Amino acid sequence: MQFPKIIQGGMGVGVSNWRLANAVSKLGQLGVVSGTALDQLFVRRLADGDKGGDMRRGLDAFPFPEMAKRVWQEYFVPGGKAAGAPYPTTPMHQRRELRKVVELCIVSNFVEVFLAREGHKNDVGVNFLEKVQMPHLSSIYGAMLAGVGYVLMGAGIPLHIPGVLDNFAAHHPAEYKLSVAGAVQGQDTGMHFDPADYVEGPLPVLDRPRFLAIVSSNTLATTMLRRASGRVDGLVIESPTAGGHNAPPRGKLQLNAAGEPIYGERDQVDIAGLRALGVPFWLAGGYGNAESVRDALDQGAAGVQVGTAFAFTEESGLSSDLKRSLLGRAVAGTGEVFTDPLASPTGFPFKVALIPGSYSDQAVAEARTRVCDLGFLREAYAAPDGKLGYRCAAEPVANYIAKGGKVEETVGRKCLCNALMANVGYAQIRKGAVVEPALVTIGDDLNTVAQFLAPGRSSYSAADVVESLLSLTLEVEPQLTSAGEQAQRTMTSVPFQLLEPQYVSA
Ligand SMILES: Cc1cc2nc3c(=O)[nH]c(=O)nc-3n(C[C@H](O)[C@H](O)[C@H](O)COP(=O)(O)O)c2cc1C
Repeated sequence: MQFPKIIQGGMGVGVSNWRLANAVSKLGQLGVVSGTALDQLFVRRLADGDKGGDMRRGLDAFPFPEMAKRVWQEYFVPGGKAAGAPYPTTPMHQRRELRKVVELCIVSNFVEVFLAREGHKNDVGVNFLEKVQMPHLSSIYGAMLAGVGYVLMGAGIPLHIPGVLDNFAAHHPAEYKLSVAGAVQGQDTGMHFDPADYVEGPLPVLDRPRFLAIVSSNTLATTMLRRASGRVDGLVIESPTAGGHNAPPRGKLQLNAAGEPIYGERDQVDIAGLRALGVPFWLAGGYGNAESVRDALDQGAAGVQVGTAFAFTEESGLSSDLKRSLLGRAVAGTGEVFTDPLASPTGFPFKVALIPGSYSDQAVAEARTRVCDLGFLREAYAAPDGKLGYRCAAEPVANYIAKGGKVEETVGRKCLCNALMANVGYAQIRKGAVVEPALVTIGDDLNTVAQFLAPGRSSYSAADVVESLLSLTLEVEPQLTSAGEQAQRTMTSVPFQLLEPQYVSA
């Protein structure tokens, strides 16, 4: 069995949606849905009346009908909400989640993966950001209920995820340690999820998905393989040209004249060192062309992970206005991408497409009134009374300071939660008129996506990208080095299981 040469990278929020992942997986490559903030996205799709009935179809396949019904009844708005009405929000995530929040995570992740798997028998993956920790356990369980084949995670060090997957495959409870700023030794910061508290019927048979860690250095790659709580099946090695969040440069942060982090030799990965680790690896960041795919395979990679090229496909969730506007710039060669060291409350550099009138525009950023009502990027902190509090550097400054945050940490921060919802057509509407601005993340390769447009066409599909990326590698199998060969053999010796969710008695 061949391993996928192309991983369509997870793109949150909702850019790599079920439609895109379905199209890519159908073509025999790995389609990956973004699991980030899927619960909120799901609520907004239902609030818009679930046009096309896709969410409903997914809910109908959910193994616990009563839970599906509760979610539907709470959030579905027949015919869709009024145009000027705001989207409903749900309670923000916290260490000890409310039951309805957990159920929403389970159900929404199930539906996204279920829909991405419809109509074919190939694997589908789900991507999460390690930093967004509070929804992890319930989201992963929901994705596993739908038979997700791969879990991919970066933006942090996901050492404890493999063990979670092992536990859930056996329906055992799992723990995840929440990072808490200022936590004292011995303070309980664990999060807990026991499937038995949520299953409402016969226990489905679950397979343990493969786990791919997304890392940016040889050191992290080695750490993942040595110290993870369970099996790491492969690595995605992401360079700082990639869209989304980037790892910060090694050493002291230095900025270029434009204000972007400067990456140097120490940030380059050593491919020979990666090969020597003996697990399959995929290269990411600027690999969205046939030559780079061939080069990656020649160097012993199992393949590449590509995001930017897929973000503009007809199937992706990016709003059509933004697709059109950015594709137009790419064709003209005038697209500009800025690696913003401050925008993301995570503290990681965040790649942003410069679009006048969007949140990347200084005037728009300054005009926006700070509000925090989604809270995915809130960090937990230990309050003086020993309780946990939650704060985000992009929330109203006075609130952040009242929670012990430092004013300098708020400078330049942007509300990614609301912006990323806006990118995919679900901008919050406030006071009947004010619409949350979009902030598009994209890789440095933005202008190269024009290559996928056939003459006279103004759009392209996931199939166009896959066909183009593989055009130099289809006939000629990669010349693998011995370490690469070994890795390939290790993987192909594991029989691929084509999962169908099966429900059996406990
Ligand atoms: C719009 C967009 C959103 C992204 N969001 C995520 C994300 O939520 N999680 C993640 O691990 N990577 C994310 N990425 C990174 C991709 O998964 C992928 O690794 C990267 O795009 C590869 O580099 P490229 O952009 O040069 O193709 C995102 C990339 C883009 C373009």
